[in-house]
Order: sequence, then structure tokens, then C-alpha cells
Amino acid sequence: MKAILSGMAVLALAMTVSGAAYADGDAAKGEKIFKKCQACHTVEKDGPNRVGPNLYGIFERGVAAEAGYNYSAAMKKKAAEGLKWNDDTLLAYLEKPQAYVPGTNMTFPGLKKEQDRKDLIAYLEKATGHEK
Ligand code: HEC
Repeated sequence: MKAILSGMAVLALAMTVSGAAYADGDAAKGEKIFKKCQACHTVEKDGPNRVGPNLYGIFERGVAAEAGYNYSAAMKKKAAEGLKWNDDTLLAYLEKPQAYVPGTNMTFPGLKKEQDRKDLIAYLEKATGHEK
């Protein structure tokens, strides 16, 4: 029993260190919140671009990196400045996209509740292939 418990502690630690899904993010709730994004975004591998780019691989591929999608100058500028998408930058961007990337074409006003954003990011980690 003791060995199992310490094994779990190591696993929990490893998850924290690798920056995997927010421990307090609920992916099932996040999937429902994603309905707000679905009109403009798909998440599956090789999914089509809509008004916004397909989001598969968003945690690995970098900002403004979906081939065949015409990003705004504002988003390309952020990419050139070295912005990467991860839990922290998505948490900030999704609160107020136009404040985080001034001039972005993403007209979505943002999600005020931090917990909603954490749930959504936990879902995105799974749905975009970041966390198997
Ligand atoms: C009304 C359409 C629309 C909605 C709704 C919308 N987006 Fe977007 N999104 C866009 C557009 C357009 C862009 C490209 C922005 C640019 O080039 O400035 C974008 C860009 C993004 C990016 C950056 C993509 C990249 O390749 O760098 C992320 C991440 C993102 N959206 C996530 C979301 C999430 C999560 C939601 C739901 C909370 C959402 N969006 C809702 C239109 C939308």
C-alpha cells in the first residue's frame, strides 16, 4: 500500500513538472465550453480551417503556424516575437483575445471565469493531441 501511494505521488509530481493538464481543469466541462469556439474552430487532426484555424497540435506547433490559414498581421507579429501557446499563454489569451493580441481577427470577446478557461484548456490538451 505504501509503495502504491508513493508511486502515485511520483506520478502526480511528473504530471506537474511536464505541465500536463491543469490539475484543477475539468476536460468534460471544457468540452461543453468549447461549443462557444466550434463555429470558428475544429480540433481534430487534419480538420478544416473555418473562420479561425484548425487547432490540432496547438501546444506544439507555435503561434500562427497552421498551414494554409491566413492569420492577421497582429497574430504573425506575436509569433515573430516568440510567443508560444501553452497553458499560461492560452489562459491569458482566452480571457481577452483583443487585449492579449491587439488587432487579432478573433472577434470572440473572451471567457471571464478563470475556471472556465482552465476547463477548456484541459479539454484542448486532450482534443488537440497534446495529451494522449
Ligand atoms: C468568431 C470566430 C471565433 C471564435 C468564436 C473563436 N475564435 Fe479563436 N480564432 C479566430 C480567428 C479568426 C483566429 C485567427 C486570429 C488572427 O489571425 O488574428 C483565431 C485564433 C485562435 C487561436 C490561435 C491559433 C494559432 O494557430 O495560433 C487560438 C488558440 C484560438 N483561436 C482559440 C479559440 C478558443 C479556445 C475559442 C473558444 C473559447 C475561440 N478561439 C473562439 C476566430 C474565432
